[in-house]
Amino acid sequence: MEKFVIKGGKELKGKVRISGSKNASLPILFASILTGKLRLSNVPDLRDITTTCQLLKQMGFDVRKSGNTVEVESGGDIKTEAPYELVKTMRASILCLGPLIAKYGRARVSMPGGCAIGLRPVNLHLKALSKMGADIKIDHGYITAEVNGKLKGCEITFDFPTVGGTENVLMAATLAKGKTIIRNAAKEPEIVDLARALRKAGAEIEGEGTDVIEIRGTSDLKEIDYRVMPDRIEAGTFIAAVGLAGGEVEMEEFPFETLGAVIEKFEEAGLRIEKLDGNRVLVKKVDRLKGTDIITQPYPGFPTDMQAQFMAAMCLADGISVIKETIFENRFMHVLELQRLGANISIEGNTVVVKGTEKLIGAKVTATDLRASASLVIAGLAAENTTEVYRIYHLDRGYEKMEKKLQLLGADIRREKSELPY
Ligand code: EPZ
Repeated sequence: MEKFVIKGGKELKGKVRISGSKNASLPILFASILTGKLRLSNVPDLRDITTTCQLLKQMGFDVRKSGNTVEVESGGDIKTEAPYELVKTMRASILCLGPLIAKYGRARVSMPGGCAIGLRPVNLHLKALSKMGADIKIDHGYITAEVNGKLKGCEITFDFPTVGGTENVLMAATLAKGKTIIRNAAKEPEIVDLARALRKAGAEIEGEGTDVIEIRGTSDLKEIDYRVMPDRIEAGTFIAAVGLAGGEVEMEEFPFETLGAVIEKFEEAGLRIEKLDGNRVLVKKVDRLKGTDIITQPYPGFPTDMQAQFMAAMCLADGISVIKETIFENRFMHVLELQRLGANISIEGNTVVVKGTEKLIGAKVTATDLRASASLVIAGLAAENTTEVYRIYHLDRGYEKMEKKLQLLGADIRREKSELPY
């Protein structure tokens, strides 16, 4: 196991390129089940991508990775199963369910369990796919689904705009018979990216990015050849890093249009964010940040995936910040660890109150999930003395070369072997 050792107090200066989006790459890779052929570029090199490639391989797909490009091709027989061993390491494996039923008429996918940020059921995915004609059962920890013939297009109104649920139905509907209308669909930019990728393969989709998506099923899809959008959460995390460590950082391939709520809140807190030409952005800290409130919401609201990093930035701000989490019921696991660094934070239900302090002081802290780990790393950049972040395998699931990018910006951060069993 590995840890990060961070000596805080260095301002960040220089340029960083934002990698391709993890949460856009994952569904598009699973969309290769529908098309049988895919060439995806700008795919970030990180653990969840490796897990997805492994899952596709064990189903019988030929998967080749070269640099940031992944190619998938269906070989002979396809095993329509996602086993427990892989699903338990990556919940997004559930995204193979819709494509498998639509293409092969059957699927057996391990039921994802709860995780560090909440219960995260998949009931909405299952209800929608049943409505499309799949016969779904749950036994021995597995979801088994079968359809007699093809899935049928229908109208689906989600109780909540679930991101994964929208993606599963969107993919399944491309090969269903007739038209599917998804109401109260999630509007996240990663869904727009998935729809664009599928359209390149011949899928007929309208309305992505709004809360009504219409899909007209076709009998066959061609190859997907697509370049994944940049990762808006990685970009937001680097903004938060500058908010904590200070300095001036230019980001390339910055997905400006997708980060409205995040940019607005950091600007409200006093950070300077200037759009340059050619998808570049300059982020500059000129003064101590001011306490600022946020409420996490589905897109285009403030993303839950940026809540922990924003909270870390508010720990050193002047004044009080109120942070309300409305998407996941248990996404405050970083609070106790930030307190270990000296942050003044209290929790009341789904709301956290941060009283900004003058300084944070390095300590040993343990990451509990992907974005919590990111918050601890960026807090460590601003803390006095040394911060050691354990269980960074969480971070490796979703950030490409995080410490290398930070090193290039002047941070003193090293990856070392952990002396602990984790
Ligand atoms: C996606 O998860 C992202 N994952 C998450 O990113 C992100 O936090 C989340 O969307 C919200 O933006 C990927 O894209 C791979 P949801 P997903 O279905 O699809 C409840 C990260 O850090 N719900 O929109 O699982 C659910 O419990 C990750 O990169 C049901 O009740 O999110 C949650 O409270 C973490 N029943 C809420 O809806 C369902 O059937 C939002 O979940 C489905 C969801």
